[in-house]
Amino acid sequence: MARRIIATEAIEEESGLENSLRPQLLKDYIGQEKLKENLKIYIEAAKQRSESLDHVLLFGPPGLGKTTLAGIIANEMGVNLKITAGPAIEKPGDMAAILNNLAPGDLLFIDEIHRLNRQVEELLYPAMEDFAIDIVIGKGAAAKSIRLELPRFTLVGATTRAGMLTAPLRDRFGVVNRMEFYTNQELEQIIRRSAGVLGVEIEPEGAAELAKRSRGTPRLANRLLKRVRDFAQVKYDGKITKEVAVFALDLLEVDKMGLDHIDRQILITMIEKFKGGPVGIEAVATTIGEDAGTIEDVYEPYLVQNGFILRTPRGRMVSGLAYRHFGLPEPGNG
Ligand code: ADE
Repeated sequence: MARRIIATEAIEEESGLENSLRPQLLKDYIGQEKLKENLKIYIEAAKQRSESLDHVLLFGPPGLGKTTLAGIIANEMGVNLKITAGPAIEKPGDMAAILNNLAPGDLLFIDEIHRLNRQVEELLYPAMEDFAIDIVIGKGAAAKSIRLELPRFTLVGATTRAGMLTAPLRDRFGVVNRMEFYTNQELEQIIRRSAGVLGVEIEPEGAAELAKRSRGTPRLANRLLKRVRDFAQVKYDGKITKEVAVFALDLLEVDKMGLDHIDRQILITMIEKFKGGPVGIEAVATTIGEDAGTIEDVYEPYLVQNGFILRTPRGRMVSGLAYRHFGLPEPGNG
């Protein structure tokens, strides 16, 4: 799944199965209704004026379709999509090269935009605002600054942490949108669509079981669908029924609520080592040997949204739901 990213040369997504499951147009994109409705208008308006679309910031947990949406916006606008990521752009020169290679109207997607270093980020300010950058050539007394005009382009930035973006960068996006977790019904639709693309037969109850265990995340739903398909093919007659889905997902250690091994480790650690909290994320991270940022970005949002973890001013606490999920007695309830 690793996406190859080259620093000096913004590249397009690699093709392949992962991509074939991605919808190409807004009409095929399931979920994020409000965001879709807004984007449809902005795209239509920009096209009517023959302008590039305003810069767009998408934030939210991983796997909810930020890259997919960037691709869709490019398709709907009829422009090229160039993809890169914050950590891949090390020097202002790298950023300048990427910007200088854009054609008019092009869409530049920067994933993990909160991880751009300061100098690179500062180069983006005039690029986003004035479509120009100032480049310093030479050193010392001979140093000269030249202004490089850029074509009008659209920047789509993606981040799992809107809070980590600096104000000057955030303020330069005309459209700022949070991606929400998908409902089970939306995930069922996505799974049925993906099954169609993969050419695998799936019963509605099989799709429902997969949806229930995909933690609101299409990327996970599609990944689990492919694994369940393997079980259906080798152990059953190829069709994904509820029975196949339950069998495969149990083997994959994805539980009834969609929690995986690490989700459970986080909750159990909080219960057993920290008396259910309040506890800081760093303490939990150190105890289970995970990175605190990863827990915060990848695991915690779903656990919070579904009421397993409560965030309080004094730290994180596990909820009664978490105790009941593991069949453990709640403190104070016997
Ligand atoms: N595949 C992955 N995400 C999707 C979405 N939101 N709609 C349709 N298909 C998808």
